[in-house]
Amino acid sequence: MLSIRVFLQKLLILLHVTLCVIVGKTLMVLFPNAMKRYILKLGAKSRMNENPKFSYENWGPTFFSFKYLLFVLKVKWKRLEDEAYEGHPAPNTPVVTLNGEVRHLLDFMQDNRPLILNFGSYFSSTADFLIIYIEEAHAIDGWAFKNNVIIKNHRSLEDRKMAAQFLQKNNPLCPVVLDTMENLSSAKYAALPERLYLLQGGKVVYKGGAGPWNYHPQEIRAILEKMKSEMEGTSE
Ligand SMILES: *[C@@H]1O[C@H](CO)[C@@H](O)[C@H](O)[C@H]1NC(C)=O
Repeated sequence: MLSIRVFLQKLLILLHVTLCVIVGKTLMVLFPNAMKRYILKLGAKSRMNENPKFSYENWGPTFFSFKYLLFVLKVKWKRLEDEAYEGHPAPNTPVVTLNGEVRHLLDFMQDNRPLILNFGSYFSSTADFLIIYIEEAHAIDGWAFKNNVIIKNHRSLEDRKMAAQFLQKNNPLCPVVLDTMENLSSAKYAALPERLYLLQGGKVVYKGGAGPWNYHPQEIRAILEKMKSEMEGTSE
């Protein structure tokens, strides 16, 4: 049920995002060079600039478009469903293996070993411990970038599985599972468009920032290194 409070929150977000897009678009028309420098600076914070095939012309001009507005709106609205907080129990949402079996996130946890969740879609294919393939950030029928892999928004689990198989072909050193079509894992972990978590003992130990600008695998590494040195400290 949509409560008045959620309705008002969504309305405020809608106004805010629309205003930002209008201002951004206007600035892009009036000061194209300054805006390009600004967007490139944002890009430098993600791994966007590291791909030589992926020039500014492929993604920069898509900013502040209507599809961009719809996507940002979806991301911000979805964040209202966030239920993952550091120090609190980790949401045990359903996921689907590439064989079609339904499992739950905490099934992938072994004893007290930390479990890293890497939420993303094709666009964010850095592999870690359990990859949860969620909806596409840059679907060809959504906020599309040029020269990117052609994947449509998933209309069925089968579509999502096909997209995840692209990823599966490329690299991962860990299992890949799919979010269900209710997108519960994505919603309860506020994972769109990409996000990292570290769970341990059924709890959220670390919640990374939202990607692409605040997605920092090195933070997970630092935590794991700290855990390791603490363990070595106690075993002495
Ligand atoms: C989940 O995401 C897909 C896009 O990948 C979308 O088609 C579908 O409608 C979403 N499901 C819900 C319940 O919002």
